[in-house]
Amino acid sequence: MDSTAEILAQVNAVRWHQSFEILPGVVSQGTYRPDGLWRRLGLGPEISGNRVLDLGARDGYFSFRCETLGAKVLAVDYVEKEGTGFSLAAKLRRSEVQFINRNIYDLRPADIGTFDYVLMLGLLYHLPDPYLALEILRSLTKPGGVAFVETTCTDEAVHFKDRSVATGSLNDLPLMIFVARNVTSFWDMNSTCLTQLLEHTGFSLQDMQRWGKRMLARSIAVESSEVERTNSMARGVVKRG
Ligand SMILES: C[S@@+](CC[C@H](N)C(=O)[O-])C[C@H]1O[C@@H](n2cnc3c(N)ncnc32)[C@H](O)[C@@H]1O
Repeated sequence: MDSTAEILAQVNAVRWHQSFEILPGVVSQGTYRPDGLWRRLGLGPEISGNRVLDLGARDGYFSFRCETLGAKVLAVDYVEKEGTGFSLAAKLRRSEVQFINRNIYDLRPADIGTFDYVLMLGLLYHLPDPYLALEILRSLTKPGGVAFVETTCTDEAVHFKDRSVATGSLNDLPLMIFVARNVTSFWDMNSTCLTQLLEHTGFSLQDMQRWGKRMLARSIAVESSEVERTNSMARGVVKRG
């Protein structure tokens, strides 16, 4: 085993996004602390033995927290695990979390199965087609399973380029705005829009938390023939009769 000094040198050589304690006394120097969001998820020992999918896992913080609770975790990111802190953190923790390097648009239940819990945290606004992303999220969540979606929230204001526009009076409308903040940011939306997108793609919303510019939806995957009919029509062809 490497000495603490060697471990710290390896850790400090990585460009981290998530700041967390990888091992006792060894903390990644990331740009944000995910432990507040972890508390909002409210996950506990009930996930032990369950399958958890962490979409856009980055350095693996949420995957490792779920693993520590006894879950069987699959982490997915379109950045290779050596390109983030995931690989080093997994090695140091002797983690058994599985990682696949794939775009979430290419995930299929036929390949990876379905999951009791799916985390889509800090990901939706990075995706060009949020409706398709939520359809894929639904296809990967077991009926009765739980999906968490955390993303940017415009309930107070829309932050568009160099100006902010107050939007409080519009919150009963499902609004999404194309923000294109940078090459990886596409859409911000309000909580009414996220709720309706989730319900339209086969989820039942259980809880919506909002704080500052962010929101977290907890939903249950439901069976819905209406959703299947709508989506097969929207992405297929309509035959006569
Ligand atoms: C803002 S980070 C969020 C990381 C983590 N989920 C969290 O909440 O702390 C977004 C992550 O999603 C990944 N990502 C973005 N678009 C993706 C896509 N289309 N498919 C897979 N991963 C993607 C990025 O590489 C990055 O690791």
